[in-house]
Amino acid sequence: MSESTKTADPCVMVIFGATGDLTKRKLLPALYNLAKDDFLPHKFAIVGVGRQELSSEEFKAQVVSHLKEFIPNGPDEKLLRWFEERTYYTGGDFDDDKKLFGDIRALLGDVTAAHQIPDNYFFYLATPPNLFANVTQKIVKNGLGKEDGEHWRRFIYEKPFGRDLASAQKLNADLLKSIKERQIYRIDHYLGKETVQNILVFRFGNSIFEPIWNRNFIDHVQITVAEKLGVEQRGGYYDSAGALRDMIPNHILQLVTLTAMEPPVSFEANSVRDEQAKILQAIQPFSPEDVLKKAVRGQYGEGKIGDEQVAGYRSEDKIAPKSNTETYAALKLSIDNWRWADVPFYVRTGKRMATKHSSIVIQFKRAPFMLFRDTSIEKLTTNRIVIHIQPDEGITLHFGAKIPGPIVNMGAVDMDFDYLDHFGEQVSTGYERLLYDCMIGDATLFQRADMVEAGWRIVDPVLDVWRALPARDFPNYASGTWGPREADAMLENDGRAWKNMAD
Ligand code: BG6
Repeated sequence: MSESTKTADPCVMVIFGATGDLTKRKLLPALYNLAKDDFLPHKFAIVGVGRQELSSEEFKAQVVSHLKEFIPNGPDEKLLRWFEERTYYTGGDFDDDKKLFGDIRALLGDVTAAHQIPDNYFFYLATPPNLFANVTQKIVKNGLGKEDGEHWRRFIYEKPFGRDLASAQKLNADLLKSIKERQIYRIDHYLGKETVQNILVFRFGNSIFEPIWNRNFIDHVQITVAEKLGVEQRGGYYDSAGALRDMIPNHILQLVTLTAMEPPVSFEANSVRDEQAKILQAIQPFSPEDVLKKAVRGQYGEGKIGDEQVAGYRSEDKIAPKSNTETYAALKLSIDNWRWADVPFYVRTGKRMATKHSSIVIQFKRAPFMLFRDTSIEKLTTNRIVIHIQPDEGITLHFGAKIPGPIVNMGAVDMDFDYLDHFGEQVSTGYERLLYDCMIGDATLFQRADMVEAGWRIVDPVLDVWRALPARDFPNYASGTWGPREADAMLENDGRAWKNMAD
């Protein structure tokens, strides 16, 4: 994570899936924001690739209209022209290696000549994952994937990266038949979020937190990624994935590793990722009995989100009427190392929950009570640090203070740091940093093969048990609530409770 502010290397970004949702909502606005802040090189071009047969002119018009729609307050006219001048398109059948990939090669030749760009390419695969290996292989077969000393070729893959350990291993192996690991950038958009990147700065750039960041002081950690939305238009994918696959091996385990890892020796990509990988290896595997005690699944029924009555999961578009797919998952993870022994990490994620809120709660142990025996205080407030990831980014320190008055009494108070108040609004899609890092060759915020596989290794036993024992009580939580009762019970059995953020 080098803090360089240099302009990225001259290059061409080739987007497979250029007419899709991700391109219009995230990638194009992110490129725009990078260009606005002078992070994109002057010698830069975009080549869109899709199944649709469009001319470059038609694609340019789409790009302009997407930027107008997705740049808050509208894009700058001069910058729009800049994008128009360097945007191209070619379309066709992804299975046909001769025609489409030959066209891409010819177009790249023209584009690099016209803009005097050296042959640095990065290919963004915003396609269904079953095409990753095939498309990569065709790119390489057509002479576009091999690096030489002077020119780089990089490949970004969107999630999901596999659907279990075996398929992730196969995908990694298939990609390595065509390209090298150092060319592979497996994206997890959670690592593009400012507050997520701030975890390392907060922990290791301050001297007061790290000494207490361990089992001697911390009682447990809670990580919540709660969404208000349901499955929206993604029923086709989601019903065969489920909440566990969709969120835990990737986004949530990234949050676990950043919270739990040891200080790396430097911010060089492999130093950081080595420490993250060690945490993944230290997470204790679930036995089938553990799954029954330490994993909870749920599916939303109908309910109310605010004032709006919403349908249950089984009535959503493209969802099987008797679907047994979970839309909520909670796990109790144990990290078996010196720092974290006996400190559970409770993680949960769900759709159609009471509010949209993602946070990491570091719950400290309670102070000894004896001094307060003869006061009106019945129980001491515990301390916690809450790292708010979204929607309101910030950090809260929760502690007890004396309530003013002649008797000793204690109240819980919060000290809040709010990103918005302090730094003002930062317009970001979360993809800017990741695209930029790929262009400068910094893979710190991308997942390495061993990390992806370790993530699946952790969740695979849960998937196995859940598949073998289909849930009998679905739907088991109403939309607009904090998930199934069993998830509360899991913490109550340990004498703890989830910290639910107010709407
Ligand atoms: C995606 C999941 O990776 O992350 C979605 O596939 C989920 O189901 C989304 O809604 C959440 O991302 P964010 O940035 O809105 O928290």
